[in-house]
Amino acid sequence: MFGVVLCAVREFYRVSAAALTSVAIGVQMKALVLAGGAGTRLRPITYTSAKQLVPLANKPILFYGIETLVEAGVCEIGIVVGDTWREVEAAVGDGSRWGISVTFLRQEAPLGLAHCVLIAQDFLGSEPFVMYLGDNFLVGGVQDFVRSFQQDQPNAQILLSKVSNPCQFGVVELDSQGMVRRLVEKPTVPLSNLALVGVYFFDACVHEAVRAIEPSDRGELEITDAIQWLVDKGKSVRASTVTGPWIDTGKKDDLLEANRIVLDMIESRVDGFVDVSSKIVGRVVVESGAQVRDSVVRGPAIVGKGALVANSYIGPYSAVGPDCRVEDAELEHSILLKGSAVQGVRRIEDSLIGRGAMVGRSVDQPRAMRFLLGDHSEAHVCGS
Ligand code: G1P
Repeated sequence: MFGVVLCAVREFYRVSAAALTSVAIGVQMKALVLAGGAGTRLRPITYTSAKQLVPLANKPILFYGIETLVEAGVCEIGIVVGDTWREVEAAVGDGSRWGISVTFLRQEAPLGLAHCVLIAQDFLGSEPFVMYLGDNFLVGGVQDFVRSFQQDQPNAQILLSKVSNPCQFGVVELDSQGMVRRLVEKPTVPLSNLALVGVYFFDACVHEAVRAIEPSDRGELEITDAIQWLVDKGKSVRASTVTGPWIDTGKKDDLLEANRIVLDMIESRVDGFVDVSSKIVGRVVVESGAQVRDSVVRGPAIVGKGALVANSYIGPYSAVGPDCRVEDAELEHSILLKGSAVQGVRRIEDSLIGRGAMVGRSVDQPRAMRFLLGDHSEAHVCGS
């Protein structure tokens, strides 16, 4: 309720401002955010956690997407959730922290992105909407795309990004006029280097499209097939290219890269405790309740609430999550999730360490490496 009132106030000022400047702004747009899926490429993290909740600079990826939409004027978001619905719903809440209203829509199995549109039809009604994949990280916002979609009212608008590995995405072929001709999901031979970014704009035509298509070979209703259906039916499908960084955070290295980009934008803040023998260099956030003792933290980096960093070095592009312990260790370009510990190890780089996980020095005889790794874990050891 509070969110709806706030939204109404924001909308009043937005529309008034638009009227003053003669900018044509259409009706309020809803958003559909997808936060289901199995997250197989991020196992074992995703055995116990939703991929959309993995943090970048200690904030879930999903929240960056929600904030991008709120910034663009969206007030009502439907979030499609799967097996991890409990965790996603608990993290997001009712949306009042962003002044919006949030409705959760359960998808019983990961049956595809177009299937999400199918189950969201009652929520979406017949109005145009924006669909946003909750594991996508897009710098630069979507405000301009919302505006152009509302002004020009094509049946669909897709966003593209030039990539070096098109076969891992939905790929688009444009004609000489720049109109969408063909889309293929994860092609073996790429049609172009233009990947579909996980942000799509649709009008009501998409509902007919998602009902018309058949599941793909991987058993999913693909949104690329639904868009191809629109193209084949002569609907207007417009493509715009994003210029800022875009990352589909499906894998560890993509997450580390997105974490790096976010940390590059943080502003220094020390709300926790830093003792006199420690050194904070560059842009560093030390959150409340965190302690830094006898250590060097070289930013950009963040040390989360309640974390302890003692006799250690935290290097650039590290995000130490809440309640972590880093003792007698060196760490750089890594993400430590809540409650994990790194003790007596020099040095850790390019790593993603799961919640409550422990990386420590082995002291028992015989000297050996000892592991207790979850299924699909990875350990890369150096030295002999
Ligand atoms: C999905 C879409 C794909 C798109 C990508 C963007 O793939 O199916 O067309 O390019 O998102 O993130 P997924 O990452 O779910 O395999």
